[in-house]
Amino acid sequence: MRKAKVAVVVLLVAIMTMSFALTGCSSSRSSGSDSGDGAKSGDAKEDLVFITMPTEAEERWIKDGEELQKQIEDAGYKAELTFAQDKIEQQNSDIENAINKGAKIIIIGAKDGTAVGPAVEKAKEAGITVIAYDRLIMDTDAVDYYVTFQLEKVGVLEASYLIEKLGLEDGNKGPFNIELFTGSPDDNNAKYFFKGAWELLQPYFESGVLVSPSGKVTKDFTLDDWQDIAIDSWKMEKAQAEMESRLAKYGGGATHLDAVLSPYDGISKGVINAIEGQGLPWTPGTPDWPYITGQDAMTTALSDILIDKQGETVWKDTRVLAKKVAEVSVQILKGESVDAADTMNNNNIDVPSILLDSQSVTKNGESDASGTISVKEVVDSGYVTADEVGLK
Ligand code: GAL
Repeated sequence: MRKAKVAVVVLLVAIMTMSFALTGCSSSRSSGSDSGDGAKSGDAKEDLVFITMPTEAEERWIKDGEELQKQIEDAGYKAELTFAQDKIEQQNSDIENAINKGAKIIIIGAKDGTAVGPAVEKAKEAGITVIAYDRLIMDTDAVDYYVTFQLEKVGVLEASYLIEKLGLEDGNKGPFNIELFTGSPDDNNAKYFFKGAWELLQPYFESGVLVSPSGKVTKDFTLDDWQDIAIDSWKMEKAQAEMESRLAKYGGGATHLDAVLSPYDGISKGVINAIEGQGLPWTPGTPDWPYITGQDAMTTALSDILIDKQGETVWKDTRVLAKKVAEVSVQILKGESVDAADTMNNNNIDVPSILLDSQSVTKNGESDASGTISVKEVVDSGYVTADEVGLK
């Protein structure tokens, strides 16, 4: 029985590996709505919407992609979903593929918002509408719409949580030891997340209330230096290695770490792993353990929040984002006007943008930051299950 199961698993892995190789390493999921459902050629519902997400290695992009594909299919259109496996070349070839297939719209969650520019320009030349999904596409006029969450607000929520927990507005003078991280240097979002946080934290660095024992952030650090504390591709392993090397300045725990500004749950997990891996004398759930922020409400982060390892995450409900982008896509396909009230500049044009709202999540929703909710409320929304996050 066991052997049979193993054989099935081996076979499945072999099939998956083969299809992975055949698709040039990207992973592609086509919609089934082109299966001869009687739609005539020239029927608008024949129109293809092509979705390229940056990676399948992170939970949120799978959720984003699948939700988006479902919403577009539910509206009666064809949708094809691909993942670029964190590779610029792969995303460019996915976009070429979309052009060859005659897609009407390409929705791009960019791996690298700048490097994707030339591929996007080809799509534009082919008359395809380009929607930048969550991450802005930079330095080109070939992007039609940008749909994301209010970027700076993410950083504001994270910094507000730390300021509250450290009692900085109550006049606590510390000095408090904090380590700051930013996201991937090739992602425009990372700068904006940090901008929101840095505007709130910078005065405390200036007055000496906040200090970074690692020396990574000093009094004269500026927003333009954000890439000095960036984590390539937002990778957990890279964050862990970076935190391990920063912890060398903490004398085995003799110097206390009070807080960590992390812009993303994967990075937070790397930080937690580093602290735990070094066996430092700090215990979750006690005042010894640092306050650690995050973003994305990943299941691992929500679990860690429940056991006091992570303090906070910023939840951007990807279902809402996917729904909005699907709605915009259908409007475009129907030739209706799109209501994009905001703009975001991409160093070339002001891209018509739709900016959605996010929320801070803590264990029991305990925080003064307005709109903070509990892990249970995220579960109750159906975004994750109680089992997945270990909620009793
Ligand atoms: C950003 C995104 C974040 C997070 C991060 C890592 O672009 O806005 O929510 O997902 O990438 O994937």
